[in-house]
Amino acid sequence: MENLRILILAAGKSTRMKSKYAKVLHRVGGATLLEHVLRAARSVSMDIFVVVGHSAEKVKALIPEVKFVDQQEQLGTGHAVITARESFSRFSGDVLVLPGDVPLVSASTLETFIKFHRDGGFIASILTAEVPNPHGYGRIVRRNDNQVSSIVEHRDATPEILKISEINSSIYLFNAPALFEALTKIRNNNAQGEYYLTDVIGILVNGRQKVGAFKIEAVEEILGINTRQELAAADHMMCRRKCESLMVEGVTIVDPDTTFIDADVEIGADTIIYPSVQIQGKTVIGEDVTIHSFTRISNSRIGARSVVLEGCVIVDSSLGEQVSAGPYAHLRMATKLADTVKVGNFVEIKNSTLGAGTKSMHLAYLGDATIGKNVNVGAGVITCNYDGVHKHPTVIEDGAFIGTDSQLIAPVRIGKDAYVAAGSSVTDDVPPESLAIARGRQAIKEGWVRQRKKKE
Ligand code: UD1
Ligand code: CA
Repeated sequence: MENLRILILAAGKSTRMKSKYAKVLHRVGGATLLEHVLRAARSVSMDIFVVVGHSAEKVKALIPEVKFVDQQEQLGTGHAVITARESFSRFSGDVLVLPGDVPLVSASTLETFIKFHRDGGFIASILTAEVPNPHGYGRIVRRNDNQVSSIVEHRDATPEILKISEINSSIYLFNAPALFEALTKIRNNNAQGEYYLTDVIGILVNGRQKVGAFKIEAVEEILGINTRQELAAADHMMCRRKCESLMVEGVTIVDPDTTFIDADVEIGADTIIYPSVQIQGKTVIGEDVTIHSFTRISNSRIGARSVVLEGCVIVDSSLGEQVSAGPYAHLRMATKLADTVKVGNFVEIKNSTLGAGTKSMHLAYLGDATIGKNVNVGAGVITCNYDGVHKHPTVIEDGAFIGTDSQLIAPVRIGKDAYVAAGSSVTDDVPPESLAIARGRQAIKEGWVRQRKKKE
């Protein structure tokens, strides 16, 4: 939007979270609080300033394409805005102030709020809400004619003011020059010894400036996250929203209360998600897929009609169509399973590709391996890819059969259609269509038990 600059306050520490990390770095719905606020902000203007202080370097690294203002000492929300004064010296438009801890605020609410502010010709507007439990929030004090007169912080409020259930969301629009002029008048003579941004409202009202308050119905949108309890509640609300929208799109989610799906995840219609599943990051899941309980999938792709059984961990990997994985499979680091691959219980696959129709059904470790089509990897097969210093590759060509409990000591290549006998320790390449047996010969000592008994 024209003439609209955004100022996000994100310098505070997380005193009430008892955390060593800045509050805005805590995560809900797969992203930090600050990233959620930014997402909404970007939909109304790309002219964004962020006030940083605690964990400033981490915060700066997290969010590109914004300008930063350093608040060395965190002396309150008013002080945070004063710190940005220089950046606004030649700006006469509206400034939308957002706290960094309101992850549920939506773009459409911000748009409606801006329209309210501009249509009403206000110098300042506050986004407010009527909430059942206003504890901790600043209260909106109105005169008899219903006009806002000031905001009073919870800790400075009289018993009478504490009864007010209309709260300050900390989301405001100001005419920039009027804001910075009013900020020269705020003091820190309050319960917290801080410079409050909220005091600007009383100052503007006393100066006969037009101040508006826009009350929203969707109160959860302005939930400020100050405690771990509120963090969990926001996470639940966000995941609930995501589950609702996926269900609308045709995904079956058996128990949305225990299903945690990040905002950017895409899932095709007729896919079924069983309880206690986490799907994270930029994961894309196709149609008609089944994901069973206690599975975590992160930044991965799962092709149509695949089945992921109980207890799998799938990270940074890609599964083709009609793949079956698990129960208890661990797929990671750019592992690629082609269509119809079957990976069974207690199989770990790292940085490997498996061709179509290949099976590894029980107790295997496949690392840094390139495995062709229709290969059978027996129970307990291990690629010995690490010599203590370097990682080495294993290649298994199409149609090969790796007998159970074999070790493939990399670098090594098993040729097309070759067989490795069960229990082999393979150190040398196996040519195509041949059999490799690499194990100690069995010896039989007949009558050995009887003879031992005689000696006793
Ligand atoms: C603030 C409001 C309160 C409102 C509530 C809504 C004030 C004085 N109070 O209280 O009226 O109901 O939000 O959630 O404004 N920050 C800085 N620098 C600082 C202090 C804070 O950048 O020196 C940032 C924080 O990182 C945070 C935001 O400002 O993102 C709000 O600060 P917080 O301490 O959470 O304010 P509340 O006590 O919740
Ligand atoms: Ca807050």
